[in-house]
Amino acid sequence: MKTFKVAVIPGDGIGPEVIEEGVKVMKKIAQLDGRMQFEFTYFPWGCEYYVEHGKMMADDGIEQLKSFDAIYLGAVGYPGVPDHISLWGLLLRIRKEFDQYVNIRPITLLNGAPCPIIGGSKETIDMLFIRENSEGEYAGAGDWLFKGKPEEVVLQTGVFSRKGTERIIRYAYEIAAESGKTLTSISKANALNYSMVFWDEVFEEVGNEYPNVSTYSYLVDAAAMYMIKDPARFEVVVTSNLFGDILTDIGAALAGGMGLAAGANINPERVYPSMFEPIHGSAPDIAGKGIANPLAALWSASQMFDFFGYEDIGEQLLVAIEKVLEEKTVLTPDLGGNSSTTEIGDRVVELVSALI
Ligand code: NAI
Ligand code: MG
Repeated sequence: MKTFKVAVIPGDGIGPEVIEEGVKVMKKIAQLDGRMQFEFTYFPWGCEYYVEHGKMMADDGIEQLKSFDAIYLGAVGYPGVPDHISLWGLLLRIRKEFDQYVNIRPITLLNGAPCPIIGGSKETIDMLFIRENSEGEYAGAGDWLFKGKPEEVVLQTGVFSRKGTERIIRYAYEIAAESGKTLTSISKANALNYSMVFWDEVFEEVGNEYPNVSTYSYLVDAAAMYMIKDPARFEVVVTSNLFGDILTDIGAALAGGMGLAAGANINPERVYPSMFEPIHGSAPDIAGKGIANPLAALWSASQMFDFFGYEDIGEQLLVAIEKVLEEKTVLTPDLGGNSSTTEIGDRVVELVSALI
């Protein structure tokens, strides 16, 4: 039996509420399946920790996390702590230090999930976003000059290295080639005359190594429109950090809302742990009420099973999530029901028990 060490960072707001269901379901699956077991270690980092210690995580936090096989993260951010501090102090720090340069966001409209566009279905809305996760517009490079003076200037520089751009694009080509799907690159070379011209060139160059992958290339504004008007055009999609951030929120809306959107931050070389998280935030408006939707956190657990090499289990967990959506007997308020977070987790436990 294989043992996986998972670092759990529940974080703030609804983070702990949804992560608890994820851990419950993962433990149940391990027990049913018998091939693996999990050792969960909890870390109390986040905004409450910040208020007490003046930092989002322990000084040697990265060192502490290094030896884990994966990180399971809830959400960070809470009123009173500026969002750029909570984000940079924990989430972005982990992504960067562990070179999690691939952000994988599945956007699939499961049967039974609500969709805001007419005629949306699992056939038409089924894409896999591969977002650059280590540099680009979120490199943190820039300056703030003459602060508060009339000549004030701020610079926020996009950083696109050859290594960084090539590796994310190559990763996406690999996924497209393996799955026999089309690959779409989303950029903006007409306006961003350095970074995105370069991006497009690299997309073409790397493409020469994958003659069997059909490719498309869109400007980001057009892509935003097509995602709504004709989502079926997108299969595997590769894009930069900022564009990916924005477009995957459109994707989340298309595929049932924030309560269903998951993301994996991957270090493909597996030198460092990868991190799995629902992409929603800490939702202060509903925190503490026990009504947060845990399905996004469960979907990210499914991604973790895939990453550990148990794609069959990842798939079964997704089937269970879909079943909850189809049955509609227990659903949280964001999906029109009146069940609690725990009731959804319990139902998924029952469903996986029947499946595995
Ligand atoms: P949010 O995702 O927390 O909430 C947006 C809306 O979606 C709210 O109405 C919320 O109730 C709803 N929602 C989100 N997840 C839900 C779930 N699982 N079930 C039911 N409803 C859900 O985004 P918001 O309000 O912009 O940010 C709140 C805080 O979270 C901020 O401090 C922000 O910085 C932080 N944040 C953290 C992220 C992370 O840790 N990965 C990502 C996004 C925001
Ligand atoms: Mg985002």
